[in-house]
Amino acid sequence: MSVFAQIEITDSIEMMRETMRESFVEDKFENKINLGLTSFRNEEGDAWSLPVVKQAEKVIASDETLNKAYLPVLGLESFRNVATKLLLGNESPALLEGRVFSAQVLSGTGGLRVAAEFLNKHLKYKTVYISKPGWRNNHLIFKSAKFDNIQYYRYWNINTKAFALEPMLEDLRRARDHAVIVLQTCAHNPTGCDPTKAQWIQIAKVVKDKQLFPLLYCPFQGIASGDLDEDAWIVRYFVSHGFEFFCSQALVKNFSFCNERIGNLVCVTKKGNVIKNVKSQLAFIITGWYSNPPVYGARIVTYILNDPRLRDEWKNNIKRMYLRCKQLKNNLRQALEKLGTPGNWAHITNQGGMFSQTGLTQQQCIYLMNTHHIYIRLCGRINLSTLNANNINHVAKAICDTVKSVPTKE
Ligand SMILES: Cc1ncc(COP(=O)(O)O)c(C=O)c1O
Repeated sequence: MSVFAQIEITDSIEMMRETMRESFVEDKFENKINLGLTSFRNEEGDAWSLPVVKQAEKVIASDETLNKAYLPVLGLESFRNVATKLLLGNESPALLEGRVFSAQVLSGTGGLRVAAEFLNKHLKYKTVYISKPGWRNNHLIFKSAKFDNIQYYRYWNINTKAFALEPMLEDLRRARDHAVIVLQTCAHNPTGCDPTKAQWIQIAKVVKDKQLFPLLYCPFQGIASGDLDEDAWIVRYFVSHGFEFFCSQALVKNFSFCNERIGNLVCVTKKGNVIKNVKSQLAFIITGWYSNPPVYGARIVTYILNDPRLRDEWKNNIKRMYLRCKQLKNNLRQALEKLGTPGNWAHITNQGGMFSQTGLTQQQCIYLMNTHHIYIRLCGRINLSTLNANNINHVAKAICDTVKSVPTKE
């Protein structure tokens, strides 16, 4: 008998996602649509390979001086420097005062996981607060890092379909001592709703008063507002207000190459003299997991960010992604309203970034899949860029029918 015979299937959300993916693949309906994808799509429905990335790849491929030897445990130094500046700004006081260091990690997920391990193992954090709703992987990441108390703060008002400041503050004020708080810096997944600057200031105050340790994550810099600096505002606010924190910065969505798994875990400290020790323990964690990171994505990002012409082109590419999503939000809302779809659809255009929280309930999502062959995450989130001129009206009609057929219970 196989030793694996004792293994049972997981009923996790990840499994549900796989099931949805499989159902989509198996569905023989010609006009099936998958709105649940997580990478950016162009008008033709293809994952968009940025022209600027292709240019950089050509140069890198023809550079005879580059080799495929191992990187150091903490990754490519030139990448870490340029990525950290992208996040904190060139003139960041923390950078100028030598209070920052970073490690190249396996994208946003990898950065969160390394940080979570460090916080639990070395700073003895056992409690973490994550947003509800939130990115599905957060729970698993902190569970895997042996946090034994995973708590949630309310983030979203299901009735208004907007960010819920007061409930969030209330939950944070009641937070336990010695806890980590996870905050997504922009384009919150899955709600698409971010706090305003004034609201962030109130949140930061409670984080400070309660001495919560901020673990920020920034998977969509540039895509939320079309502006890289604007999308890093809260990170820089935390720096300028003397916080110590980690920020897991992913560079896969804004370079539109999700499979390159490139990220940068930034650590901002109050005093530069602690860095040596923290760095050594982070390096130890990484060594025990995957030894050292891959170089390809790091080289591409570094090449583009260090070349003024390519950097500008990249910014334009990001702007295109942002504008496409913005336009699609307007179009979807208009189409839903024109059809007289029950409910208020203003939230769609109030949200930022690539994802939109439609507000559809789980039953409605299932109906949409079973009846209309339109696949959607059960939390109601869609990737806006999967919409295009060919499918948007069909999707709007299907949503309209769904909401009429499976009414939302208040
Ligand atoms: C909020 C959030 N964080 C992290 C990730 C995953 O990021 P990565 O590919 O950088 O690991 C996603 C992916 O969609 C996300 O939405």
